[in-house]
Amino acid sequence: MSYEYILVDRPADGVGRVRLNRPQALNALNSPLMDEVNEAMLAFNDDATIGAMILTGDDKAFAAGADIKEMDGKSQIDMLMTDSLVDRFDFAALTKPVIAAVSGYALGGGCEIALACDMIVASATALFGQPEINLGIIPGAGGTQRLTRALGKALAMEIILTDRKLSAEEALRYGLVNRVAPLDEYMDAAISIAQKAARRSQVAVSLAKDAVNKAYETTLAEGLAYERRNFLVAFGSDDKVEGMRAFIEKRRPQWTNR
Ligand code: CAA
Repeated sequence: MSYEYILVDRPADGVGRVRLNRPQALNALNSPLMDEVNEAMLAFNDDATIGAMILTGDDKAFAAGADIKEMDGKSQIDMLMTDSLVDRFDFAALTKPVIAAVSGYALGGGCEIALACDMIVASATALFGQPEINLGIIPGAGGTQRLTRALGKALAMEIILTDRKLSAEEALRYGLVNRVAPLDEYMDAAISIAQKAARRSQVAVSLAKDAVNKAYETTLAEGLAYERRNFLVAFGSDDKVEGMRAFIEKRRPQWTNR
C-alpha cells in the first residue's frame, strides 16, 4: 500500500510505525492524511505479526494541528457532516497499544491525537499546546476532556483559554507523557516500549489496554467489575496456560495469542 501523506514501516520485530509526512505544513492534519492514518493503523491492528504501533511525525513537528487552510473554507454544516477527529482517532478502540513518539510541535489536533494514544514518548524539544483560542475556536478533538483528566482543571484551563504551551519536561512532570529523551534518542525509546508490549501475549495486552481505558469512562465500582470480567477472559486463554507453565518450568513463554 502506498500513501501520499504518511510513511509506514516496521522499525522492529512486532512494531508497526506510521509517520505523518507533510513536513512543508508541519504535518497539519488534512482530511486525506487523517484517512491514511486510519487506514494504516487499522491494517496494523489487523496484522497478527504486529503487537504494538507507533504514531509519529518528524523531529520538527509531530503535528501543528488540524489544517487551518482546509478548515478556512468549511462551514459549520460541512464540519457537522464529516467524521469528527475524535471518531477518526479513536485509538482506544484498537486492540493493540499505540505509542505516540512526539518531537517538536504537538499543537491543537496534534496534541489531541497524541493524547488519544495509549502512551507518549517525547523528545526534549516537544511542545504541547492547544492554540485554537487564537483562531476564535476551541479544541475539537478531545483536548478539553483529555487534558483536564490528565492535568486537572486549573492547568487545562490555562492551556486552552490562554494558549499556555507545555515543554517536554513540564509534560513529564505533570504526567502527560511517559518519558522524555534527547532528540536523537526519543524514537528508540518509543520503539523500545513498543517492543516490550509486542513481546507479550496480544490477548492479555489487549484486555489490559481495554480495562485501563475503561477507567476514563466509568465509576470505580463499574470499572472494577469490568476489570474482573477482562481478567476472567484472560484466564480462559491459551496464553494464560502457557504463561503460568513457562513460569513454573523456568523458561520463556511461547505466546500463541489465543
Ligand atoms: N494548518 C495549516 N498549515 C499550517 C498549520 C496548520 N495547523 N501549521 C503550520 N502550517 C503551515 C504554515 O502555514 C506554513 O505554510 P507556508 O510555508 O505555506 O506559509 C508552514 O506550515 C510552516 O509554518 P510557519 O511558517 O508558521 O512555521 P513557524 O516555525 O514560523 O511557526 C507554528 C510554527 C508556531 C507551529 C505555526 O505554524 C502555527 O502557529 N501553526 C498553527 C498552530 C495551530 O493553531 N494549531 C491549531 C489548529 S486548529 C485545530 O487543531 C482544531 C482542532 O482541535 C481539531
